[in-house]
This record gives sequence, C-alpha cells and structure tokens, in this order.
Amino acid sequence: MEKRRRSIEYDPARAKVAADNLRSAGLADVVTVVPGDAFVQIPKVPGDFDFVFLDAWKRDYKRFFDLVLPRLEPRGLLLAHNVVNKQAEMHDFLDAITRNPKLFTTIVSPSSEGMSVSVKLK
Ligand SMILES: C[S@@+](CC[C@H](N)C(=O)[O-])C[C@H]1O[C@@H](n2cnc3c(N)ncnc32)[C@H](O)[C@@H]1O
Repeated sequence: MEKRRRSIEYDPARAKVAADNLRSAGLADVVTVVPGDAFVQIPKVPGDFDFVFLDAWKRDYKRFFDLVLPRLEPRGLLLAHNVVNKQAEMHDFLDAITRNPKLFTTIVSPSSEGMSVSVKLK
C-alpha cells in the first residue's frame, strides 16, 4: 500500500512556507502539508506509521509519543529533534523512549541540538 507523507503545522504562515518549499523541491506529490493542530489531525490519519518525526513544542513530546506509539509499525522509526539542547523540557519523553521495552533508542548529536532515533521492536 502506498504511504502518504504528511507534515502537520498549525501556524498558517509556516504551513505555507513548508508547502512552498516542498513544491520548489518537486516533492508536492510526495508530502502533503496539513494545516492544523497535530493532536487533532493525527487521529484523522488512516493506517499505521512507518516513520514519525517530532519537532513541535518540546513539552508536548510525551503526549505525541503516547498518541503515535500504538500506531507505529514494527521496525517503524520515531525521531525527535532537540533532545540534547532542550532535554530539560522533555524529561518525561526521554524517560519514555529510553525505558519502553518496545523500543530501541539511541541519541545522535551531529549538532548541539541532538536527535533521538527510536525503532519499534518486533
Ligand atoms: C521548532 S519549530 C520546527 C518547525 C520545522 N520543523 C522547522 O524545522 O522549521 C516547531 C513547530 O511546531 C509547530 N507546532 C507546535 N505544536 C504543534 C501542534 N500541536 N500541531 C501542529 N504544529 C505544531 C509550531 O507552529 C512550529 O512551527
């Protein structure tokens, strides 16, 4: 089944910039920018996820984790940005991704911001 990629952004100006950038990159038919609150939009997305990238407000990461983990496919990936430079705002999320037995997680820091990479175990 073909997977549709979505990028959800609730600031209308930022959503337009994202859509314009995707169009310029020739990816408009690959990624759809969905304007709106991701907590409202994610439940409307059909099916499960093979890849989720979190880069919203850091204090919301744990709520996003709880929302998407049940729908992440085995071997699916959950990535989150700013897990090093903003770790103070997301201790609950970091505990969840490092302690959940359904996940293998590593943290990479190609810059000072840091990215978590979690794979859902089969
Ligand atoms: C740190 S910025 C990152 C934006 C983009 N990934 C980038 O690198 O330019 C965080 C973005 O998340 C958006 N955001 C935060 N909470 C959101 C939510 N619940 N639903 C949709 N977008 C949200 C904000 O409007 C903001 O544009």
